[in-house]
Amino acid sequence: MLAFRRALLLAALIVTLLYLTTRSTSPPLSSPRAASPQSQAELDLLAKASTAAGSSDRQPSDANPTDNHHDSPKAEKKMKDMSKLTLYERLAYHFPYDVETKFPAYIWQTWKWTPAHGEFAFREQEATWTEQHPGFIHEVITDQVAVHLLRLLYGSVPEVLEAYDSLPLPVLKADFFRYLILLARGGIYSDIDTFAIRSAVDWIPDHVPRDTIGLVIGIEADPDRPDWKDWYSRRIQFCQWTIQSKPGHPVLREVVTRITDATLKRKRAGSLKDVHDKNVIEFTGPALWTDIIFEYFNDERYFNKMNSPGPVDWKNFTGMDMPKVMGDVVVLPITSFSPGVQQMGAKDYDDPMAFVKHDFEGTWKPESERHIGE
Ligand SMILES: *[C@@H]1O[C@H](CO)[C@@H](O)[C@H](O)[C@H]1NC(C)=O
Repeated sequence: MLAFRRALLLAALIVTLLYLTTRSTSPPLSSPRAASPQSQAELDLLAKASTAAGSSDRQPSDANPTDNHHDSPKAEKKMKDMSKLTLYERLAYHFPYDVETKFPAYIWQTWKWTPAHGEFAFREQEATWTEQHPGFIHEVITDQVAVHLLRLLYGSVPEVLEAYDSLPLPVLKADFFRYLILLARGGIYSDIDTFAIRSAVDWIPDHVPRDTIGLVIGIEADPDRPDWKDWYSRRIQFCQWTIQSKPGHPVLREVVTRITDATLKRKRAGSLKDVHDKNVIEFTGPALWTDIIFEYFNDERYFNKMNSPGPVDWKNFTGMDMPKVMGDVVVLPITSFSPGVQQMGAKDYDDPMAFVKHDFEGTWKPESERHIGE
């Protein structure tokens, strides 16, 4: 019980900290639609941190009477209609995306224990993130804190919480958590067994304006060999052990929607228990991540297809050795997040494009993801 209360308190503290730092370091958001629901929801949730998550039709402004006078009748009508919106649309409302904001200075990691715990074995790795990122807020979130933090952030989207709670394997929750925290708050997520070789400040090439980019991803696998299917699920696979994003990015919104819907559908059908380690890659892991990114690149809501006739697929990213900008996404070459793997064109740790070193110790990965072609 004591541990539970400590976790709750820590989660509340993190949200307060985030709230204060976001407000004090970023300029006021120009769009009232972007600014008010989120801050109201947070104040509301903070005030109610010790009570259960709200019902599905509770609106962010309901519990904050001091702000009610800001709401025009039109805004109220809009709020009342929220229940008719799809999950994707509600996530867009609660976590609006603005490509022109700064990349938030957060580093999110998760592990069974905090760095202060005697069993914590990633001290060296964890320290590299702090050293490379002075001024960033760096949090290692335990499973227990994650539960409470998500309650605070996703209280107004209860089906997301239900899906998180229902996931039957820790690895599924760990995957889901990275998308959820980045959708809600942005920043960098990196697996705990990852060394930061270069600061994220240097990840985006100098000539690319920061206010045109909302997502930075790396390539996990680019197996240019006829039998690639024996080793990888996709011809190009994007990695999800390290991701940088601004809050609300549409790719994250889609991933969260897809995992929530798939989880709840399986839950209702009673088939969640059939999700085993080998399904993880498709259910929450890099295969799902890769598919959704490619769908985004081909989505006419976000990309003008007039100038590029063909579909965007693996061919657009194979054999890259410099970053490639696609819309508001920077795709880094395989060397950036997978240096030193000695295959698929990845260069070594001392290459200028090598940004993180991933050890695969603190994560689930099937054997084929760790060593191919040996
Ligand atoms: C991707 O590659 C295809 C050819 O494979 C090309 O037609 C298309 O224009 C490229 N798209 C972009 C956005 O570079």
